[in-house]
Amino acid sequence: MSKVLVSFFSATGTTRKVAEEICKVENGDLYEIVPEIPYTKQDLDYTVKDSRSNLEMADESSRPAFVKKCDSIADYDTVFVGFPVWWGREPSIIDTFLEAYDFSGKTIIPFCTSGGSDVKKAAQHIKGIVGENVTVEEGKRLGPDATEEEIRTWKNLLGD
Ligand SMILES: Cc1cc2nc3c(=O)[nH]c(=O)nc-3n(C[C@H](O)[C@H](O)[C@H](O)COP(=O)(O)O)c2cc1C
Repeated sequence: MSKVLVSFFSATGTTRKVAEEICKVENGDLYEIVPEIPYTKQDLDYTVKDSRSNLEMADESSRPAFVKKCDSIADYDTVFVGFPVWWGREPSIIDTFLEAYDFSGKTIIPFCTSGGSDVKKAAQHIKGIVGENVTVEEGKRLGPDATEEEIRTWKNLLGD
């Protein structure tokens, strides 16, 4: 049976909840992308021009460090990658994670939570980062209370 990793970054807990639900449905392993320097409330304030998150997202080359603790990414065929949408796409720490491992031959399935933005721009961006040897699915935005049934329906639409 193919092995599934459900990786996620969550600054305020919303994406974590969804990741846990996906993990249950997929019978996968959960992997939290933990920032080396945790985000404070001030860091996340997008109304402040030079808040940490705004500065990171304005700089395409920004790669905030995470605590690297997964040595066994090679074991997985399918890797869900979950995140809150920040400024229309995945937070830069997701890019750090994607560049830290070799995903060649694997399938990445992006999912997000957000105030309304969909996952499309992030999925495109992720595709550009991981390169051509990786299949990146369309992905999906899920609500904070995404149910098991909703996740199963989405997965059935993906054909697996
Ligand atoms: C810095 C920052 C930027 C955000 N940008 C967007 C955005 O562009 N579009 C959107 O719909 N929501 C945006 N949001 C809202 C988050 O995506 C949303 O609250 C998300 O569910 C939080 O997930 P978390 O609790 O897992 O961190 C932003 C939030 C923050 C902190």
